[in-house]
Amino acid sequence: MPVIVVVGGQWGDEGKGRVVDLLAQKAQVVARYSAGNNAGHTVVNELGEFKLHLVPAGIFYPDKVCVIGNGLVIDPPVLLAEIEELQSRGVSVQGRLFLSDRAQVLMPWHPIIERMDEELRGKAAIETTGRGVGPAFVDKVGRAGVRVADLMDKESLLELLSFLVPYKNATLEKLYGAEPLSTERVHAEYADYGSRLAPFVTDTAALVQEAMGRGDTVLLEGAQGSLLDLDAGTYEYVTSSVPSSLAGGAGIGIGIGPTKIDSVLGVYKAYSTRVGAGPMPTELTDETGTLLREGGPRPEYGATTGRPRRCGWFDAVAARYTARLNGVTAIALTRLDVLDPLPTIKVCTEYQLEGERTDSLPASRGMLARATPIYEELAGWQQDTSATRRFKDLPENARAYVRRIEELLDAPVHLVSVGPERDQAISIKPIL
Ligand code: GDP
Ligand code: IMO
Ligand code: MG
Repeated sequence: MPVIVVVGGQWGDEGKGRVVDLLAQKAQVVARYSAGNNAGHTVVNELGEFKLHLVPAGIFYPDKVCVIGNGLVIDPPVLLAEIEELQSRGVSVQGRLFLSDRAQVLMPWHPIIERMDEELRGKAAIETTGRGVGPAFVDKVGRAGVRVADLMDKESLLELLSFLVPYKNATLEKLYGAEPLSTERVHAEYADYGSRLAPFVTDTAALVQEAMGRGDTVLLEGAQGSLLDLDAGTYEYVTSSVPSSLAGGAGIGIGIGPTKIDSVLGVYKAYSTRVGAGPMPTELTDETGTLLREGGPRPEYGATTGRPRRCGWFDAVAARYTARLNGVTAIALTRLDVLDPLPTIKVCTEYQLEGERTDSLPASRGMLARATPIYEELAGWQQDTSATRRFKDLPENARAYVRRIEELLDAPVHLVSVGPERDQAISIKPIL
């Protein structure tokens, strides 16, 4: 029955895909509510390892309905390739994967603009994923976007592109010195994508509302993490998803009201990672940082770009801040197993900032860059946890670590993940 938001609490890659894949067993509908193929959600199951960029992580159960909501930007060839790959590896999508007719479409100028913007920024580059998703959201807000519904109507698409392509060409040629695009060619290509995507396209808001009316359990899958959110995150080193990467954006990105959401599961990694530029107070550039990146199964490399992730201790100042902003009711703590070999583990509980101690995340980019973490040191457990399935069987110090995170975030940990495989999980309290 419930409607649950699954949101990343840090800088992305917390294991949202893995957690959604696990929870989807008990849901009927899984719906992605934000971003585009800048996201990379890894799922490991009996069919192998999958890196999903647009398709929700419920797709591996043949009886689940999966929805790509209106809050997304979709790149048609990327979505078509993802669908093809899933089908070729034995995952059915027909009749149960649905794409919102109101979702935005990533157009060929978006990656070009992003590349040039990053170049122009020079040292201030965001180090984006380079997929064009940021410029596509800029165009959404700038009322210069193409929506999935437009691809379904060839004539109206031509009318729209007859304005948009020259309009974008002006920017490409005059501002960036890039080659102009041809309206006819863009029209032919995108009309073809429209025909190929047509079997999946529908009013997904109505579909989810109907499912809720039947009493179905619905998971709303977020992308990125709260510290990459435009409002809450470490601006300007954030992603451009509108309305929001936070749980508050879930209803809008799917088309349901805020009163329909029952709970918010915050997914947090047992330490911190970040890909791309921007402040990260607890980053470690020493051998412990390397151990966090390379240790355990599935080392820390971006699921979309393959870039090494910056790693560091758990930042409870930032995590408590995002738990509050999201109204987190339960926590899923992932990658606890990566901490197994460490003799001691640090958690940042406050920042030292201009001679003062603070437990809040400063808004100012300069202040955040100058904040130095104040750590609490906890004893490690130095035992393999990857085969543990009951909380009481975890080493005492591992249990103490989980309990300390609960205290610091003021929210209960319901699930602990000790490996990438579906069954490598410890349920403390039921989520569904
Ligand atoms: P997402 O973007 O939040 O879905 O996360 P990613 O898939 O980008 O990154 C999470 C990575 O951690 C993936 O490689 C997962 O397979 C892996 N993973 C998830 N949970 C665990 C865990 O508990 N332990 C270990 N070792 N790996 C995990
Ligand atoms: P998932 O859903 C981690 C980061 C990029 C860059 C910034 C802006 O897998 O957790 P963008 O391409 O969005 O304009 O890049 O945001 N970023 C992510 N980092 N996980 C993600 O998604 C990310 N999506 C974007 O590295 O710093
Ligand atoms: Mg990811």
